[in-house]
Amino acid sequence: MKTVLITGADRGLGLALAREYLKLGYTVFAGRFLADYALLDDLAAENPGRLFPVPLDVSDPRSIDSAYAEVSRHADHLDVFVSDAAYMGGPENSRIRGEEKIDPALMCKSVRVNALGPLLCVHRFLPMLQAGEEKRLCFISSEVSSVALMLRDGDFRYCMSKTALNMAVRMMHNALFPAGFTFRLYQPGWMRRQMPDGSLYNRDDRQIDPGFSAARAMPVFTGRRADEGRLELVDYLGSVWPF
Ligand SMILES: NC(=O)c1ccc[n+]([C@@H]2O[C@H](COP(=O)([O-])OP(=O)(O)OC[C@H]3O[C@@H](n4cnc5c(N)ncnc54)[C@H](OP(=O)(O)O)[C@@H]3O)[C@@H](O)[C@H]2O)c1
Repeated sequence: MKTVLITGADRGLGLALAREYLKLGYTVFAGRFLADYALLDDLAAENPGRLFPVPLDVSDPRSIDSAYAEVSRHADHLDVFVSDAAYMGGPENSRIRGEEKIDPALMCKSVRVNALGPLLCVHRFLPMLQAGEEKRLCFISSEVSSVALMLRDGDFRYCMSKTALNMAVRMMHNALFPAGFTFRLYQPGWMRRQMPDGSLYNRDDRQIDPGFSAARAMPVFTGRRADEGRLELVDYLGSVWPF
């Protein structure tokens, strides 16, 4: 049995990735964070015994412990870990100029969910991942994570948190690649947001569907490279970004 744990799978890209892994025959443990979204329940009902929603707040070690216990009830190993969960925030974006404030609490929340969360999850689930055959760790980053290409002057907390994620992944790669783990750092593109009824909110015609980005991620997430010792940030078009 091939198994994958996906964080933040209630909607959007995480849910679409769950669909893709189901198509490939994986048993999917889908991290649930939102109480008011039923999309994951619908997918679980369509895939009895193959998709298990697992309550998981990646910023809370106790929640991660509970998720570990729940996943362990169904499987003795995990082949793949996909970190999708993120706190993106809303209108309270931080700017250095103007009247908007930099809010230390929201800044900490962004880093805690987006950078520390994936690290805590990998650390806790490492015994199950070591028992898996694939040992593939995938992380959803962003174009805003790249220090080299950053042009924005606002939204410090989301941008800084994704750069911190990249550093966490770089250091996990240093530690775990020699133990047989391979890594993917993925830039999914600018996506439409998914609403509770499953519809996609379109702010701009340049936005892509999460399902499209998930389908483009799969060859990256499942493929093998000759140079796995090199960590790269790849986008949904296959372009490699400096980070
Ligand atoms: N959307 C874009 O254009 C875009 C662009 C570049 C990169 N990305 C990245 O792509 C990934 C997916 O984006 P998306 O648009 O599909 O986002 P999304 O619809 O907001 O999905 C992310 C999920 O993670 C959940 N989450 C938030 N905090 C969590 C926590 N502490 N523990 C577990 N889950 C938590 C979210 O819940 P809430 O909705 O309650 O927060 C949401 O269900 C994210 O990592 C994002 O940073 C997105």
